[in-house]
Amino acid sequence: MYHIKVMRNVKISALGCYTPPRQLTNHDLEKLVETSNQWILERTGISTRHIAGEGVATSDLAVEAARAVLDQRGIPAGSIDAILVCTVTPDMLFPATACLVQDRIGASRAWGFDLVAACSGFVYGLTTAAHLVGCGTHQRVLVIGADTMSRIINYKDRSTCVLFGDGAGAMLVEPSEDGQCFLGFRNEVDGSGGEALKMPAGGSRRPASNDTVAGDLHYVHQDGQAVFKYAVRRMYEVCKELLDSQGLTPADVAVMVPHQANRRIITNVADRLGIDPAKVVINIDRYGNTTAATIPLATRDAVSEGRLKKGDLVLFAAVGAGFTVGANLWRWSY
Ligand code: ACO
Repeated sequence: MYHIKVMRNVKISALGCYTPPRQLTNHDLEKLVETSNQWILERTGISTRHIAGEGVATSDLAVEAARAVLDQRGIPAGSIDAILVCTVTPDMLFPATACLVQDRIGASRAWGFDLVAACSGFVYGLTTAAHLVGCGTHQRVLVIGADTMSRIINYKDRSTCVLFGDGAGAMLVEPSEDGQCFLGFRNEVDGSGGEALKMPAGGSRRPASNDTVAGDLHYVHQDGQAVFKYAVRRMYEVCKELLDSQGLTPADVAVMVPHQANRRIITNVADRLGIDPAKVVINIDRYGNTTAATIPLATRDAVSEGRLKKGDLVLFAAVGAGFTVGANLWRWSY
């Protein structure tokens, strides 16, 4: 357990999102695989998801989200010190998508890197940014969660193709003049779960070959039930540990923004925590699982619906491939 040692107070000062216009509904999927709108809705809570058009890559979505943040905050790209792009679907293995975004938005002073933590990526990114700004070396760190999952999904595999969508969201982390807004975090890795969710080929272990392509090894492979059980258990436990460490209870949380993987995972975790369901943001019906983008997208909805307001305590929580697990507590600052 880590306690925040106050070096400099930090806050989230802006939020921007982007989803590509094209949608793939459950009814569209009924034409691709043996499935039904009813099965998908009942088992996952998803109705539709956004899918990037041909030729569109993760950096394209990330750039739109980054520009939305800069517009909202009214600052030039040249004032950004670092860019973290949380993604498992980079445009290519290298250079990092963060480099592509830095160039496209004209963030001339920024360094940056890609952060690979799958669905926990955005929570890890926020934690990292809070430390970079908190230690006093950085003024403005842009955290982007962006994934184009449609590029690594096998649209012949009904057990995975119904789950994912494409999208991007970004938050800006800056020093706070209104006290500490980053109250705590609890992040962990359990690499023993790596086999449960992975893209088997395309890296140095199994480089791309005719055989890996023929074997569908460049797609997401998962043991859905193993992921489901782990996600429910560890998301609950990590949230509880984080709240306990701060002397807080779920009743103190104004809004919980969980990673959107499956509505049943979210409601199970919320039930175990005993948090009022009205405080839990769920927008999986409209976006599916956009991996690193779910938390900013759901936060954006909470803000625009007036559910998350300045001064509110917000709990971000996620579980992802790895396994990776993360939870952050922030006081919302605008
Ligand atoms: N349409 C119709 N039937 C389906 C579909 C589908 N799209 N997908 C699977 N089925 C069938 C299965 O073949 C199986 O049939 P069978 O009983 O004849 O063998 C039946 O439905 C039940 O399959 P289960 O795998 O037991 O279904 P389950 O209720 O566990 O739901 C799901 C599957 C939705 C994948 C669930 O396990 C899940 O959401 N797991 C979490 C996975 C996840 O979210 N991964 C994303 C990244 S990690 C993260 O974000 C936490």
